[in-house]
Amino acid sequence: MAFPCDEVIDIHSHILPGIDDGPATLDQSLALGRCYAELGIATVICTSHYIPGTAWAASAETVREKMAAVQQCFADHGVAVTLLPGMEIAFHRKLAARLERGELLALAGSDRYLVEPAFGDPADELLAMLENLSGRGYAIILAHPERIPAIQEMGEKMAGFVLEHGVEIQLNAGSLLGRFGDASRRTALGLIARGCVQYLGSDAHGALARRPPDAGEWAELERMVGGERLRAWCCVNPAGLVSGK
Ligand SMILES: [Fe+2]
Repeated sequence: MAFPCDEVIDIHSHILPGIDDGPATLDQSLALGRCYAELGIATVICTSHYIPGTAWAASAETVREKMAAVQQCFADHGVAVTLLPGMEIAFHRKLAARLERGELLALAGSDRYLVEPAFGDPADELLAMLENLSGRGYAIILAHPERIPAIQEMGEKMAGFVLEHGVEIQLNAGSLLGRFGDASRRTALGLIARGCVQYLGSDAHGALARRPPDAGEWAELERMVGGERLRAWCCVNPAGLVSGK
């Protein structure tokens, strides 16, 4: 098996049960946990959707409770995967106020928030929201911007914007593997070429549909972007995030 390194940390995973479109049950979370363990991925950040006004808006407390239950289940079944808290926070009008009140979970206790642009938002609104958040001093990691139509159309402008504002980017492994179509793949490769990508996550939703990349796909990713980049995105940068650096 070809892995980028021994210490892959998946910073984007919908592994918690019953709070979004990830696993519906604890058993399904266990199946996804086994999938990680078989791949040798020992650390996973739980990033369930947080989309206020919808059924997918579990509080920080609920995330912690679910995470503890899944972690206990892993221990009971000998699954050696450590879970860390987080959220995939949708852009929304009250986001800055909620961050201010400390209601939302940063990734793994760091100061960085995984924020998902809305699929339908126009480019100028996305950039204004991002500028507002980074201007207030929040460290933002954009979740899979390559999948967002407005960002796909923005091309070079997006790369320039994130570099100027210190916004970090997490690509989905599936985008590079072509699971989300040509435009997502092309946009991901463009962002890589401009040097503005810091993380690669699985955005896994289960052990079957939208699962983490398998060993063959890891090898394909390594051929595509090179082992050094893969190590930085999946091991070194996530480790810095987890350790608070
Ligand atoms: Fe996600």
